[in-house]
Amino acid sequence: MYEVLDKIELADKMVGLEISAEIVAAKAEAGQFVIIRTNKEGERIPLTIADFDREEGSIKIVFQVVGKTTEELADMNPGDHLETFTGPLGKPTEVKNFGTVLIVGGGAGIAPTFPVARAMKEAGNEVISIIGARTEDLLFYEKEIGSVSNQLYIATDDGSKGKKGRVTDVLTDLIEEKKTIHRVFAVGPVPMMRAVVDITKKAGILTIVSLNPIMVDGTGMCGACRVTVGDETKFACVDGPDFKGHEVDFDELTARQNMYKKMESRSLEAYNKKHRGDCQCR
Ligand SMILES: Cc1cc2nc3c(=O)[nH]c(=O)nc-3n(C[C@H](O)[C@H](O)[C@H](O)COP(=O)(O)OP(=O)(O)OC[C@H]3O[C@@H](n4cnc5c(N)ncnc54)[C@H](O)[C@@H]3O)c2cc1C
Ligand code: FES
Repeated sequence: MYEVLDKIELADKMVGLEISAEIVAAKAEAGQFVIIRTNKEGERIPLTIADFDREEGSIKIVFQVVGKTTEELADMNPGDHLETFTGPLGKPTEVKNFGTVLIVGGGAGIAPTFPVARAMKEAGNEVISIIGARTEDLLFYEKEIGSVSNQLYIATDDGSKGKKGRVTDVLTDLIEEKKTIHRVFAVGPVPMMRAVVDITKKAGILTIVSLNPIMVDGTGMCGACRVTVGDETKFACVDGPDFKGHEVDFDELTARQNMYKKMESRSLEAYNKKHRGDCQCR
């Protein structure tokens, strides 16, 4: 059983938990993920490792509350225990001294950029990070990401902080300013990653995206996380989650992510009815 050591509400529907998981922390690297279950009957869901502390034997996860299991997870408090916490899974992000690395994180994808930015900085890269959210209230991890970046740019849709617009507007500005960028790493909602690769493809900048298809076993056996990359079938849990963005079939990824929408909303409704009655609160 994996104890919740700490909990922090980072923004609206964005929660961070620190979990005691010594074996996972001993081996975790930037870009990897865990698959958790809150209880014996619970669904398995993948979450990226947002930070790890090998000495403490703990892992941080940061998640957006979007459905039944993330709702259950957000209801947990320090002292509670998760049933399973399997990992580290997936291949670590490729980290070398590439030169200048631009890291783009949007929404729930902001936290997973932190260990990648840190590892890239430690490898000697100039790290430029861009993080974005709809409004300032939904931003988080500015201090953490700023501390491992040479420059940090912020974009909000409503202009409440940083540039008014999207992370892709900042990316376009940097490319137009002829800033030399050797590699881009992007993580966030699929439409954001797709927009990033559309821009970097034209500019000829190699771009790695961290894909988030539906996963079940996380071991390459069930096929749930199938994605097409460069006309080849890949399983994101074992071949990824990082892939060359210019080769990803985003249409297929979007369609497969939406396959269970009806069942997911029925499951969330049933959970809320059982635990909160008619109250829509959290
Ligand atoms: C490698 C990987 C890393 C991820 N890291 C993070 C993270 O750090 N923070 C974060 O907020 N989210 C992350 N996600 C997405 C997260 O797994 C889903 O939000 C979560 O599974 C939703 O479960 P739910 O029961 O709360 O919602 P549901 O109502 O079941 O689903 C809501 C949406 O989440 C997605 N989803 C549902 N089940 C799964 C599943 N088993 N696997 C993948 N996606 C699913 C679907 O797009 C679905 O439409 C990651 C996904 C992957 C594949
Ligand atoms: S989650 Fe089953 S093959 Fe990847």
